[in-house]
Amino acid sequence: MALGRLLAATTALGLGTLGYSYIEATRRFVVREFTAPVLPAGHEPLRVLHLSDIHLLPGQLPKREWLESLAALEPDLVVNTGDNLARADSVAPLVASLAGLLDVPGVFVFGSNDYFSPKLKSPTSYLSGGTGVDVGGDWSRPRDLPFEDLRAAFTQQGWLDLNNDRGELTVKGTHIAFTGVDDPHLRFDRLDHLPADATADLRIGVAHAPYLRVLDSFNAAGNELILAGHTHGGQLQVPGFGALVTNCDIDRGRANGLHTHRTPGHDASWLHVSAGCGTSPFTPFRFSCRPEATVLTLTG
Ligand SMILES: [Fe+2]
Repeated sequence: MALGRLLAATTALGLGTLGYSYIEATRRFVVREFTAPVLPAGHEPLRVLHLSDIHLLPGQLPKREWLESLAALEPDLVVNTGDNLARADSVAPLVASLAGLLDVPGVFVFGSNDYFSPKLKSPTSYLSGGTGVDVGGDWSRPRDLPFEDLRAAFTQQGWLDLNNDRGELTVKGTHIAFTGVDDPHLRFDRLDHLPADATADLRIGVAHAPYLRVLDSFNAAGNELILAGHTHGGQLQVPGFGALVTNCDIDRGRANGLHTHRTPGHDASWLHVSAGCGTSPFTPFRFSCRPEATVLTLTG
């Protein structure tokens, strides 16, 4: 009988945790705030809204309402580090939900979930780091998500496409030089165009997945700030221990949040890794890792 009660209690605890993890992933959105001292002295602070890994399904109304509410934060700049879509018909609802933010200066790169629909995989592949599409840099692989529609919607509103490209914006008097790469998780990143513009007031590197080769290149190229997503903060965090996996080669300790990255002979770059605000529709669970957007206040 005691064993039976133990099994019943364990099952109830497991189901309760699973239920809570679903609620956390789909309802418990949060805006995190960090400050990074990356501006030259005398420059006005800039508020940067970092969005990532939205993985939108059209029916996700709480997420869409929360995304709409972010315009009230009145950021000076929006950085979107990819994985916007979970289905081909998600572009229109995504763009509608971001309408208020598309009026703000912005930049973006794509992740695998802007090109390829998510696939059902075994739960154990999550813990072994094997989730997501692996095309090994094969550019010719047919892409079933309407990423060109998404690109057009963003660029028509003035956001800069940084997929293997550079761009510049002047925001509140600060001249910012951006360098971006296409998704490193797909090995679509081209790192041969990276030297950052030394004449700008600030250099920012942008990537979907924070693979070390990309972070090393951005740091060596002189970017004071690097922004990435992809990790989902591990999705399931153990309180006091943190993320179990990062789904790339960055260490667990930098699975999400504001950290630094440094290569020998170079000053450290600030590195913000967003835990993102979505999940694959096949694994709609988060624990101790709420879906997030981040306001980074850049100061002198
Ligand atoms: Fe993602």
